[in-house]
Amino acid sequence: MNEETKKTSSKASSDRDPSPVVLEAAGVRKTYRLGRVPVRVLEDASIEVRRGEWVAILGASGSGKSTLLHLLGGLDRPDRGTARNAIRYEGRDVSRFDNAELNHYRNRSVGFVFQFYHLLPELSVLENAMLPCLVPNRWIVATLPLLAALVGGGVGATIGYVAGQGVLPDADVATDPKMAVIAAVFGVLGAAIGVVLLQIGQVIGERIRLQSGPEAAASRATLEEFGLGHRLRHKPSQLSGGERQRTAIARALASEPGILLADEPTGNLDAATGREILDLLKKRHLAGLTIVMVTHDPNVAEYADRVVRLEDGRAVETGD
Ligand SMILES: Nc1ncnc2c1ncn2[C@@H]1O[C@H](COP(=O)(O)OP(=O)(O)OP(=O)(O)O)[C@@H](O)[C@H]1O
Ligand SMILES: [Mg+2]
Repeated sequence: MNEETKKTSSKASSDRDPSPVVLEAAGVRKTYRLGRVPVRVLEDASIEVRRGEWVAILGASGSGKSTLLHLLGGLDRPDRGTARNAIRYEGRDVSRFDNAELNHYRNRSVGFVFQFYHLLPELSVLENAMLPCLVPNRWIVATLPLLAALVGGGVGATIGYVAGQGVLPDADVATDPKMAVIAAVFGVLGAAIGVVLLQIGQVIGERIRLQSGPEAAASRATLEEFGLGHRLRHKPSQLSGGERQRTAIARALASEPGILLADEPTGNLDAATGREILDLLKKRHLAGLTIVMVTHDPNVAEYADRVVRLEDGRAVETGD
Protein backbone atom coordinates (compact mmCIF):
# COMPACT_ATOMS: atom_id res chain seq x y z
CA MET A 1 0.00 0.00 0.00
CA ASN A 2 1.50 3.39 -0.84
CA GLU A 3 1.84 6.01 1.90
CA GLU A 4 -0.91 8.29 0.58
CA THR A 5 -3.52 5.51 0.25
CA LYS A 6 -2.50 4.09 3.59
CA LYS A 7 -2.90 7.44 5.37
CA THR A 8 -6.23 8.08 3.66
CA SER A 9 -7.57 4.62 4.49
CA SER A 10 -6.37 4.73 8.10
CA LYS A 11 -7.92 8.20 8.49
CA ALA A 12 -11.14 6.93 6.93
CA SER A 13 -11.19 3.97 9.30
CA SER A 14 -10.42 6.18 12.33
CA ASP A 15 -13.46 8.32 11.38
CA ARG A 16 -15.67 5.24 11.61
CA ASP A 17 -16.30 3.16 14.72
CA PRO A 18 -13.28 0.92 15.13
CA SER A 19 -13.86 -2.75 14.25
CA PRO A 20 -14.01 -5.08 17.25
CA VAL A 21 -10.85 -6.76 18.51
CA VAL A 22 -11.04 -10.28 17.15
CA LEU A 23 -7.72 -11.71 18.31
CA GLU A 24 -5.61 -10.60 21.22
CA ALA A 25 -2.45 -11.54 23.09
CA ALA A 26 -2.74 -10.01 26.55
CA GLY A 27 0.46 -9.83 28.57
CA VAL A 28 1.71 -13.12 27.19
CA ARG A 29 4.72 -14.85 28.66
CA LYS A 30 6.43 -17.82 27.04
CA THR A 31 9.41 -19.72 28.36
CA TYR A 32 11.06 -22.65 26.60
CA ARG A 33 13.23 -25.12 28.46
CA LEU A 34 16.58 -26.10 27.09
CA GLY A 35 17.39 -29.04 29.37
CA ARG A 36 17.19 -27.40 32.78
CA VAL A 37 17.79 -23.90 31.53
CA PRO A 38 14.66 -21.75 31.09
CA VAL A 39 14.72 -19.58 27.95
CA ARG A 40 12.28 -16.68 28.36
CA VAL A 41 11.21 -15.64 24.85
CA LEU A 42 8.12 -13.50 25.50
CA GLU A 43 7.62 -11.31 28.54
CA ASP A 44 4.35 -9.43 28.85
CA ALA A 45 3.80 -9.28 25.08
CA SER A 46 0.48 -7.73 24.08
CA ILE A 47 -1.12 -7.22 20.71
CA GLU A 48 -4.68 -6.49 19.62
CA VAL A 49 -5.93 -7.35 16.15
CA ARG A 50 -9.17 -5.81 14.93
CA ARG A 51 -11.36 -7.48 12.34
CA GLY A 52 -10.31 -6.51 8.83
CA GLU A 53 -6.84 -5.25 9.82
CA TRP A 54 -3.50 -6.27 8.37
CA VAL A 55 -0.96 -6.23 11.19
CA ALA A 56 2.74 -6.89 10.65
CA ILE A 57 4.87 -8.23 13.51
CA LEU A 58 8.41 -7.08 12.89
CA GLY A 59 11.48 -8.10 14.85
CA ALA A 60 15.03 -9.40 14.72
CA SER A 61 15.77 -13.09 14.24
CA GLY A 62 15.18 -14.89 17.52
CA SER A 63 12.99 -12.13 18.96
CA GLY A 64 10.04 -14.51 19.34
CA LYS A 65 7.93 -13.67 16.25
CA SER A 66 7.17 -17.29 15.32
CA THR A 67 6.59 -18.10 18.99
CA LEU A 68 3.99 -15.33 19.29
CA LEU A 69 2.28 -16.37 16.04
CA HIS A 70 2.12 -20.01 17.17
CA LEU A 71 0.48 -18.88 20.41
CA LEU A 72 -2.01 -16.74 18.46
CA GLY A 73 -2.83 -19.74 16.26
CA GLY A 74 -3.45 -22.06 19.22
CA LEU A 75 -0.50 -24.24 18.18
CA ASP A 76 1.22 -23.70 21.53
CA ARG A 77 0.23 -22.28 24.92
CA PRO A 78 1.59 -19.40 26.97
CA ASP A 79 3.22 -20.21 30.33
CA ARG A 80 0.76 -21.12 33.02
CA GLY A 81 0.29 -19.36 36.30
CA THR A 82 0.55 -15.66 35.52
CA ALA A 83 -2.35 -13.32 36.03
CA ARG A 84 -2.96 -11.73 32.61
CA ASN A 85 -1.22 -13.85 30.05
CA ALA A 86 -3.88 -15.08 27.64
CA ILE A 87 -4.61 -15.45 23.97
CA ARG A 88 -8.21 -14.41 23.33
CA TYR A 89 -10.24 -15.07 20.23
CA GLU A 90 -13.50 -13.12 20.11
CA GLY A 91 -13.00 -12.46 23.82
CA ARG A 92 -12.58 -16.14 24.80
CA ASP A 93 -9.37 -17.58 26.27
CA VAL A 94 -7.98 -20.03 23.68
CA SER A 95 -6.15 -22.00 26.44
CA ARG A 96 -9.55 -22.89 27.88
CA PHE A 97 -10.93 -24.32 24.64
CA ASP A 98 -11.70 -28.04 24.83
CA ASN A 99 -10.19 -30.29 22.15
CA ALA A 100 -13.08 -29.94 19.72
CA GLU A 101 -13.10 -26.14 20.06
CA LEU A 102 -9.33 -25.99 19.65
CA ASN A 103 -9.49 -28.14 16.50
CA HIS A 104 -12.20 -25.92 15.10
CA TYR A 105 -10.20 -22.80 16.00
CA ARG A 106 -7.01 -24.10 14.36
CA ASN A 107 -8.68 -25.43 11.23
CA ARG A 108 -11.59 -23.08 10.60
CA SER A 109 -11.25 -19.80 12.51
CA VAL A 110 -7.63 -19.13 11.60
CA GLY A 111 -5.46 -20.22 8.70
CA PHE A 112 -1.76 -20.70 9.40
CA VAL A 113 1.15 -20.28 6.99
CA PHE A 114 4.29 -21.75 8.51
CA GLN A 115 7.75 -20.26 8.10
CA PHE A 116 8.97 -23.39 6.31
CA TYR A 117 5.78 -24.39 4.42
CA HIS A 118 5.09 -27.67 6.32
CA LEU A 119 3.52 -29.34 3.30
CA LEU A 120 3.06 -33.10 3.55
CA PRO A 121 5.47 -34.62 1.00
CA GLU A 122 3.37 -37.69 0.17
CA LEU A 123 0.25 -35.65 -0.68
CA SER A 124 -0.41 -33.79 -3.93
CA VAL A 125 -0.79 -30.01 -4.13
CA LEU A 126 -4.61 -30.36 -4.15
CA GLU A 127 -4.64 -32.79 -1.21
CA ASN A 128 -2.31 -30.55 0.80
CA ALA A 129 -4.51 -27.55 0.13
CA MET A 130 -7.60 -29.46 1.29
CA LEU A 131 -6.14 -30.65 4.59
CA PRO A 132 -7.89 -28.25 7.00
CA CYS A 133 -11.25 -29.19 5.42
CA LEU A 134 -10.62 -32.88 5.92
CA VAL A 135 -10.33 -32.95 9.69
CA PRO A 136 -12.95 -35.54 10.61
CA ASN A 137 -15.49 -35.02 13.34
CA ARG A 138 -14.12 -36.92 16.35
CA TRP A 139 -17.57 -38.12 17.45
CA ILE A 140 -18.15 -39.63 14.04
CA VAL A 141 -14.67 -41.20 14.13
CA ALA A 142 -15.38 -42.71 17.55
CA THR A 143 -18.95 -43.88 17.03
CA LEU A 144 -19.09 -45.09 13.42
CA PRO A 145 -16.99 -48.27 13.96
CA LEU A 146 -19.08 -49.11 17.01
CA LEU A 147 -22.29 -48.65 15.03
CA ALA A 148 -20.91 -50.74 12.15
CA ALA A 149 -19.93 -53.51 14.60
CA LEU A 150 -23.37 -53.45 16.26
CA VAL A 151 -25.28 -53.52 12.97
CA GLY A 152 -22.93 -56.14 11.48
CA GLY A 153 -23.17 -58.21 14.71
CA GLY A 154 -26.98 -58.04 14.73
CA VAL A 155 -27.26 -59.03 11.07
CA GLY A 156 -24.68 -61.81 11.61
CA ALA A 157 -26.49 -63.20 14.67
CA THR A 158 -29.83 -63.21 12.82
CA ILE A 159 -28.26 -65.04 9.88
CA GLY A 160 -26.72 -67.42 12.46
CA TYR A 161 -30.14 -68.23 13.90
CA VAL A 162 -31.68 -68.76 10.48
CA ALA A 163 -28.74 -70.91 9.36
CA GLY A 164 -28.83 -72.77 12.70
CA GLN A 165 -32.48 -73.62 12.18
CA GLY A 166 -31.57 -75.01 8.73
CA VAL A 167 -28.71 -77.14 10.10
CA LEU A 168 -30.49 -78.20 13.29
CA PRO A 169 -34.22 -78.29 12.38
CA ASP A 170 -35.15 -80.10 15.62
CA ALA A 171 -33.26 -77.79 17.99
CA ASP A 172 -35.13 -75.55 20.47
CA VAL A 173 -34.19 -72.04 19.28
CA ALA A 174 -34.52 -70.48 22.74
CA THR A 175 -32.64 -73.03 24.85
CA ASP A 176 -30.31 -75.11 22.66
CA PRO A 177 -26.70 -74.01 23.42
CA LYS A 178 -25.63 -75.04 19.90
CA MET A 179 -27.97 -72.39 18.47
CA ALA A 180 -26.44 -69.77 20.78
CA VAL A 181 -22.93 -70.78 19.68
CA ILE A 182 -23.85 -70.60 15.97
CA ALA A 183 -25.54 -67.18 16.46
CA ALA A 184 -22.54 -65.87 18.45
CA VAL A 185 -20.04 -67.05 15.82
CA PHE A 186 -22.09 -65.45 13.02
CA GLY A 187 -22.54 -62.33 15.17
CA VAL A 188 -18.78 -61.89 15.67
CA LEU A 189 -18.16 -62.55 11.97
CA GLY A 190 -20.89 -60.03 11.07
CA ALA A 191 -19.36 -57.40 13.38
CA ALA A 192 -15.91 -57.92 11.83
CA ILE A 193 -17.33 -57.74 8.29
CA GLY A 194 -19.29 -54.58 9.28
CA VAL A 195 -16.12 -52.84 10.48
CA VAL A 196 -14.14 -53.91 7.40
CA LEU A 197 -16.92 -52.71 5.06
CA LEU A 198 -17.01 -49.41 6.96
CA GLN A 199 -13.26 -48.95 6.47
CA ILE A 200 -13.53 -49.72 2.74
CA GLY A 201 -16.49 -47.34 2.45
CA GLN A 202 -14.55 -44.60 4.25
CA VAL A 203 -11.53 -45.00 1.96
CA ILE A 204 -13.75 -44.86 -1.14
CA GLY A 205 -15.72 -41.91 0.31
CA GLU A 206 -12.49 -40.05 1.07
CA ARG A 207 -11.26 -40.64 -2.50
CA ILE A 208 -14.50 -39.31 -3.96
CA ARG A 209 -14.35 -36.32 -1.61
CA LEU A 210 -10.73 -35.64 -2.60
CA GLN A 211 -11.61 -35.82 -6.29
CA SER A 212 -14.96 -34.11 -6.51
CA GLY A 213 -16.34 -33.07 -3.10
CA PRO A 214 -17.17 -29.42 -2.36
CA GLU A 215 -13.86 -29.05 -0.47
CA ALA A 216 -11.96 -30.16 -3.60
CA ALA A 217 -13.84 -27.63 -5.73
CA ALA A 218 -13.11 -24.79 -3.26
CA SER A 219 -9.42 -25.74 -2.91
CA ARG A 220 -9.05 -26.12 -6.67
CA ALA A 221 -10.54 -22.64 -7.17
CA THR A 222 -8.11 -21.12 -4.63
CA LEU A 223 -5.15 -22.92 -6.22
CA GLU A 224 -6.22 -21.67 -9.64
CA GLU A 225 -6.49 -18.12 -8.26
CA PHE A 226 -2.92 -18.56 -7.02
CA GLY A 227 -1.72 -19.72 -10.45
CA LEU A 228 -1.34 -23.37 -9.48
CA GLY A 229 -4.16 -24.86 -11.57
CA HIS A 230 -1.60 -26.75 -13.65
CA ARG A 231 0.20 -28.17 -10.63
CA LEU A 232 -2.66 -29.87 -8.75
CA ARG A 233 -1.22 -33.39 -8.99
CA HIS A 234 2.38 -32.41 -8.29
CA LYS A 235 4.04 -33.38 -5.02
CA PRO A 236 5.69 -30.59 -2.96
CA SER A 237 9.17 -31.88 -3.93
CA GLN A 238 8.26 -31.16 -7.57
CA LEU A 239 7.46 -27.48 -6.88
CA SER A 240 9.52 -24.31 -6.77
CA GLY A 241 9.82 -22.39 -3.50
CA GLY A 242 7.23 -19.82 -4.61
CA GLU A 243 4.82 -22.57 -5.67
CA ARG A 244 5.24 -24.30 -2.31
CA GLN A 245 4.51 -21.09 -0.49
CA ARG A 246 1.45 -20.40 -2.65
CA THR A 247 0.24 -23.97 -1.90
CA ALA A 248 0.78 -23.33 1.82
CA ILE A 249 -1.23 -20.08 1.62
CA ALA A 250 -3.98 -21.80 -0.39
CA ARG A 251 -4.12 -24.47 2.34
CA ALA A 252 -4.37 -21.80 5.03
CA LEU A 253 -7.29 -20.20 3.14
CA ALA A 254 -9.02 -23.46 2.16
CA SER A 255 -11.50 -23.48 5.01
CA GLU A 256 -12.20 -19.77 4.49
CA PRO A 257 -10.96 -18.59 7.88
CA GLY A 258 -11.58 -14.98 8.92
CA ILE A 259 -7.95 -14.57 9.99
CA LEU A 260 -4.72 -15.51 8.25
CA LEU A 261 -1.62 -15.94 10.41
CA ALA A 262 1.41 -15.93 8.12
CA ASP A 263 4.96 -16.52 9.31
CA GLU A 264 7.43 -14.87 6.92
CA PRO A 265 5.27 -15.75 3.89
CA THR A 266 7.91 -14.33 1.56
CA GLY A 267 10.99 -15.02 3.67
CA ASN A 268 12.51 -17.68 1.41
CA LEU A 269 11.57 -16.15 -1.93
CA ASP A 270 13.12 -13.75 -4.41
CA ALA A 271 11.75 -10.19 -4.41
CA ALA A 272 9.51 -10.59 -7.49
CA THR A 273 7.91 -13.85 -6.27
CA GLY A 274 7.54 -12.29 -2.82
CA ARG A 275 5.65 -9.32 -4.29
CA GLU A 276 3.34 -11.68 -6.24
CA ILE A 277 2.42 -13.44 -3.02
CA LEU A 278 1.91 -10.19 -1.12
CA ASP A 279 -0.35 -8.94 -3.93
CA LEU A 280 -2.45 -12.11 -3.62
CA LEU A 281 -2.74 -11.51 0.11
CA LYS A 282 -3.62 -7.87 -0.51
CA LYS A 283 -6.49 -8.93 -2.78
CA ARG A 284 -7.85 -11.21 -0.04
CA HIS A 285 -7.32 -8.49 2.56
CA LEU A 286 -9.32 -5.98 0.50
CA ALA A 287 -12.07 -8.61 0.36
CA GLY A 288 -12.18 -8.65 4.18
CA LEU A 289 -9.48 -11.09 5.35
CA THR A 290 -7.77 -10.14 8.62
CA ILE A 291 -4.03 -10.77 8.38
CA VAL A 292 -1.32 -11.07 11.01
CA MET A 293 2.00 -11.39 9.23
CA VAL A 294 5.39 -11.96 10.76
CA THR A 295 8.38 -10.55 8.93
CA HIS A 296 11.86 -9.24 9.57
CA ASP A 297 11.71 -7.14 6.39
CA PRO A 298 10.45 -3.52 6.73
CA ASN A 299 9.59 -3.46 2.98
CA VAL A 300 7.25 -6.41 3.45
CA ALA A 301 5.77 -4.77 6.58
CA GLU A 302 4.85 -1.80 4.32
CA TYR A 303 1.90 -3.83 3.04
CA ALA A 304 0.33 -3.84 6.51
CA ASP A 305 -2.00 -1.23 8.00
CA ARG A 306 -0.11 -1.35 11.28
CA VAL A 307 3.29 -2.53 12.48
CA VAL A 308 4.04 -4.04 15.88
CA ARG A 309 7.69 -4.56 16.76
CA LEU A 310 8.90 -7.35 19.05
CA GLU A 311 11.77 -6.25 21.28
CA ASP A 312 13.05 -7.89 24.46
CA GLY A 313 10.03 -10.19 24.54
CA ARG A 314 7.59 -7.28 24.42
CA ALA A 315 5.45 -6.03 21.58
CA VAL A 316 5.83 -2.35 20.84
CA GLU A 317 3.39 -0.47 18.62
CA THR A 318 5.33 1.54 16.04
CA GLY A 319 2.42 3.06 14.09
CA ASP A 320 2.22 2.83 10.33
N1 LIG B 1 11.24 -25.38 21.12
C1 LIG B 1 12.17 -24.52 21.56
N2 LIG B 1 12.98 -24.83 22.60
C2 LIG B 1 13.90 -23.95 23.06
N3 LIG B 1 14.08 -22.72 22.54
C3 LIG B 1 13.29 -22.36 21.50
C4 LIG B 1 12.31 -23.24 20.96
N4 LIG B 1 11.68 -22.60 19.94
C5 LIG B 1 12.27 -21.37 19.85
N5 LIG B 1 13.22 -21.25 20.78
C6 LIG B 1 14.05 -20.05 21.01
O1 LIG B 1 13.16 -18.96 21.18
C7 LIG B 1 13.67 -17.81 20.54
C8 LIG B 1 12.61 -17.22 19.64
O2 LIG B 1 12.35 -18.14 18.59
P1 LIG B 1 11.37 -17.77 17.39
O3 LIG B 1 11.40 -18.91 16.45
O4 LIG B 1 10.05 -17.36 17.95
O5 LIG B 1 12.12 -16.49 16.78
P2 LIG B 1 11.80 -15.65 15.46
O6 LIG B 1 11.65 -14.23 15.88
O7 LIG B 1 10.66 -16.26 14.74
O8 LIG B 1 13.14 -15.82 14.63
P3 LIG B 1 13.37 -15.92 13.04
O9 LIG B 1 13.20 -14.52 12.50
O10 LIG B 1 14.77 -16.39 12.92
O11 LIG B 1 12.38 -16.87 12.49
C9 LIG B 1 14.93 -18.23 19.83
O12 LIG B 1 16.04 -17.79 20.59
C10 LIG B 1 14.86 -19.72 19.79
O13 LIG B 1 16.14 -20.30 19.87
MG1 LIG C 1 10.49 -17.28 12.94
